Amino acid sequence: MFRPAYPIRTSRLTLRPFTPDDLDDVYAYQRRPDVVRWMLGAEPRSREQSRASVAAMAGEDALRAEGDCLTLAVATEGRVIGTVELVWRSDRDRTGEIGYVFHPDHGGRGLATEAVAALMDWGFTEFGLHRIYGRCHGRNDASARLMTRLGMRREAHHLRSYRFRGEWADQLVFAVLADGWRAGPR
Ligand SMILES: CC(C)(COP(=O)(O)OP(=O)(O)OC[C@H]1O[C@@H](n2cnc3c(N)ncnc32)[C@H](O)[C@@H]1OP(=O)(O)O)[C@@H](O)C(=O)NCCC(=O)NCCS
Repeated sequence: MFRPAYPIRTSRLTLRPFTPDDLDDVYAYQRRPDVVRWMLGAEPRSREQSRASVAAMAGEDALRAEGDCLTLAVATEGRVIGTVELVWRSDRDRTGEIGYVFHPDHGGRGLATEAVAALMDWGFTEFGLHRIYGRCHGRNDASARLMTRLGMRREAHHLRSYRFRGEWADQLVFAVLADGWRAGPR
């Protein structure tokens, strides 16, 4: 089992497992249409749906087997402002996939970038991944900019490759290898 030493701290943030007490903060962003706009299969959540989501995320505090998702609450000044996750995609290829969702009220200050970088650092340094990738809708500019800011390379632009809200959508794939990450600005 691979479990970070909690909390993971950055200069402005704390990353740690979710608890039921985080419901109000999580519901504050999961309920918003603008937050789920580019997320596949996601709709604004009711408070009860957020409660179930928090309960599920609270259990995702370690990577036990390929396919598992490590999901962490990102907190600052005592409030949870977002979620970062690392999915263990391949044991053999030591590959993971990142994901992130933040409250727009806390956007535009580099906090999401800082949190995702911290989780990727754990993925490469402690968990021993060889490659981390991320995917986003071709029109999710904020997400594409975030991955670019992290030093990830845009490796693919799949044209009209998946069904999204009733129509064909483009998908972008970004990735970085462990040696590239270590050589990066961080
Ligand atoms: C994707 C998402 C996390 C990006 O949020 P964000 O606020 O743009 O990201 P950050 O918190 O890292 O802030 C970066 C912005 O702050 C600016 N910034 C200010 N201070 C900064 C600092 N110290 N460091 C880095 N960036 C800084 C950057 O220039 C950037 O602005 P820009 O994109 O206009 O150039 C957010 O839009 C989101 O949660 N979206 C909804 C969920 C979603 O779509 N998730 C992805 C699914 S694939």
